[in-house]
Amino acid sequence: RLGALEVAWELDSTSSELQRRAASAPDYSIVMAETQTAGRGRRGRSWLSPPGLNIYLSCLKRFEAGFASLSGLSLATGVIVLRALQALGIHGPRLKWPNDVLADGGKLAGILVELSGEYQGPCAAIIGVGINLRLTEALREQAGQPVCDLAALAHGTPPDRNRAAAALITSMVEGLDQFERDGFVAFVDEYTEHDALRGVPLRVSSPTGDLDGIGAGIDARGALQLQTAAGLRGIDSADVTVRRA
Ligand code: BTN
Repeated sequence: RLGALEVAWELDSTSSELQRRAASAPDYSIVMAETQTAGRGRRGRSWLSPPGLNIYLSCLKRFEAGFASLSGLSLATGVIVLRALQALGIHGPRLKWPNDVLADGGKLAGILVELSGEYQGPCAAIIGVGINLRLTEALREQAGQPVCDLAALAHGTPPDRNRAAAALITSMVEGLDQFERDGFVAFVDEYTEHDALRGVPLRVSSPTGDLDGIGAGIDARGALQLQTAAGLRGIDSADVTVRRA
């Protein structure tokens, strides 16, 4: 049974909607909304989701292998979004670990991967993607961080939203199939090619303190490699923030 594609006018969050249906919805069920009243970002932040301008999409995919093997899934999703943009002729955007899509120094797309299930048994991933097509001035001010939109990258005219959504859905279904079949290794080269943090002085902050170093790419599991004064360190946790030092 193939997943259905549903477009709602308004939802609290496309990811929350899929979560409510996760028990019965088939793999590759996709929910999109014109607007979200409680769009969610990483680390408890909200995702501004005004109507008519952007893409808000979530997809459900189950994995037999359990989430022990899914550590690279959110990074792979970054590559999946880049591939969709490339299919639309947009080649500049880069990835900021773990999975922000940046262009012109601002955030172009956000990715939220939520896993439920078992560490080594079957589990379900709900993969949410928001892409900025056209941001209003008010939205830029509300964002609280530098942001970017496809309109700016395409010199004022963003790609048709339906085409952009179709490119994202195609890339998502193909990419998740590929991830299931081959794992994160299939994405490492493309991630590395578009890594915005390689060679950049960074400060990694976590509840246990700060760590300074130079971005040195990612490893085969998707951990950030940080060249510190004490040697190369792998940064794993989703609970860290990474900034330019
Ligand atoms: C982030 O960068 O903090 C992640 C943002 C993810 C936003 C998308 S929009 C579609 C889906 N539904 C949500 O509530 N969040 C994700």
